[in-house]
Amino acid sequence: MNAHSAALPTPRRFTPTGPLTGRIRVPGDKSISHRALMFGALAEGETRITGLLEGEDVLATAAALRAMGATINREGPGEWRVQGTGIGNLQQPAEPLEMGNSGTSTRLLMGILASHPLTVTLTGDASLSRRPMGRVTEPLGEMGAAFAASPGGTLPLTLHGARAAHPITYRLPVASAQVKSAVLLAGLNAHGTTRVIEPVPTRDHTERMLKGFGADLEVEERDGERIIALHGPARLQGQVIEVPGDPSSAAFFMVAALIVPGSELVIENVGLNPTRAGLLAVLRQMGGDITEENARDVGGEPVADLRVRHSALHGIAVDPAVAASMIDEFPVLFVAAALAHGRTTTSGLEELRVKESDRLAVMAEALRSTGAQVEERPDGLVIDGTGGVRLPGGPARVATHLDHRIAMSMAVAGLASEAGVEIDDTAPIRTSFPDFEALLDGAAPA
Ligand code: S3P
Repeated sequence: MNAHSAALPTPRRFTPTGPLTGRIRVPGDKSISHRALMFGALAEGETRITGLLEGEDVLATAAALRAMGATINREGPGEWRVQGTGIGNLQQPAEPLEMGNSGTSTRLLMGILASHPLTVTLTGDASLSRRPMGRVTEPLGEMGAAFAASPGGTLPLTLHGARAAHPITYRLPVASAQVKSAVLLAGLNAHGTTRVIEPVPTRDHTERMLKGFGADLEVEERDGERIIALHGPARLQGQVIEVPGDPSSAAFFMVAALIVPGSELVIENVGLNPTRAGLLAVLRQMGGDITEENARDVGGEPVADLRVRHSALHGIAVDPAVAASMIDEFPVLFVAAALAHGRTTTSGLEELRVKESDRLAVMAEALRSTGAQVEERPDGLVIDGTGGVRLPGGPARVATHLDHRIAMSMAVAGLASEAGVEIDDTAPIRTSFPDFEALLDGAAPA
């Protein structure tokens, strides 16, 4: 039984508020937190982490790594220590690994396990059990791992890791940092050079952090593609890691402050890695007043405080080329579009259909139930905004389908509605942003 299926759904109505003001700090970056724990567990010696996201997804990663022999201790809020086993030394877990709602835990751990001679079963909640795993089992199979998946190539899935994995050269058929990372992580324990070719750049936290841990890895650009070469077998050394704030969590507060009149909110310590910062550019293009203050470097990642003021947004045609750099931010961008003047068109977003939910279908239905004008296309949404007038909202209960980002996006829509927006279940928010409701209630008093 996992946390979601065990817990009763927790509905909540999000009602219109006064302006969002003051200064807030969002929790640590989810992608970086998963990687800090995983690479710490594969390293020799101790890794010390501050700012770790203590959401359920990251805790699922920690539990899995512990079950395979890493020592992982929480020393204080966001402060964790990991004693690694060294690459190749993870142990056979006694039980199946429960991945909850977390695609990142699942796909990155599958990469690590593919080059360990272990047999491991991975399970997940109803959302994760619908998500495609063929995108990782296919390249990891070429590297020598074997898989017995559920029909459709989904979880529950049993992985038989290779005793001697072979390096491969793999051109990503989908723009996916999870697939890229899975192949590179399998390559850590393969003899020779594992190459991943990215036609479209995706978040590069794996490359940055593996280098920081001492892996022999090069990145080059050729003919508009990125080629990442990892020379294995690698040896990683424990590190000190400070995790910056998650831009994907900051996104909800950025949009909330932009659409609620009178708001001026500072969001501190937001990671602005260019492979993650697409939403900032798109919101500015829509007329959003967002300034960066105190720009600095945190743990090898660019970071700034963002000052966000209420703005009259206007609709745009979102360039599909930015999709990868804001892939998790589209649900909340759709909310911004629903309040903008004129039409916002998005395209090239087929990947949104295989996230924690089908985010195109679910957001189209959720926004329509609040009175927004939305057309769903196969690869995107077309939204005609209210021009800054509040959405009607109403009695309908939004179905979030175990998707934290749907729940948080529609909570933000509720702030800019007449009658409020009711969410069927806020529990999934704990996967990535346990303090979301407390922060929102603090920044935007009713
Ligand atoms: C992630 C990559 C993205 C993103 C997910 C986290 C990561 O998925 O949606 O929330 O940490 O590598 P894809 O790589 O499958 O697009």
